[in-house]
Amino acid sequence: MFTPMPHLVLASLRPARTGLAATLALVLAGCSGGSAGPLPTPAPQDVPALVELGKQLHVSMTCNTCHSVDGSKLNGPSFKGMYGTKTTLVDGTEVTRDVPYLVESIRDPAAKMVKGYKPLMNPYKNLDERNMQALIEFIKSVK
Ligand code: HEC
Repeated sequence: MFTPMPHLVLASLRPARTGLAATLALVLAGCSGGSAGPLPTPAPQDVPALVELGKQLHVSMTCNTCHSVDGSKLNGPSFKGMYGTKTTLVDGTEVTRDVPYLVESIRDPAAKMVKGYKPLMNPYKNLDERNMQALIEFIKSVK
């Protein structure tokens, strides 16, 4: 039976490990970069594709189990007519549901609790920029 020399095994492992570390670093950088800071406004010609993607994410990420698109109240407020309107938080403050507010509500739902609802929503901290834009454009489109 052939037993490889230890230095040969090491030599063949090293490039693979470096490659994995580099890939991991890229993935991690991608996550933190995409989930922090203000969300850039998409180009107008990109909006229809984002709305379509957001519509799919609404189902695949199970937002639809708590947020309807027809105005009916589930565990969470309906997305129908949500964008740009005002709502009241548990502490009585009125907020306008603009893009920064919606982004914060998705990344950190507990930061501003809507009055009349329970803290049931999990934070979606690691959404990349495109998926976040897609969800926002989708919410805007549900009139
Ligand atoms: C398990 C139920 C649940 C799921 C799943 C869920 N949410 Fe929520 N969401 C809530 C509840 C309850 C609230 C209201 C309480 C609060 O402010 O956290 C809320 C609040 C929000 C708000 C602020 C609404 C307002 O009226 O100001 C947005 C925006 C939102 N969710 C988006 C999403 C998106 C996008 C997803 C999927 C990626 C999602 N939610 C998944 C339960 C859920």
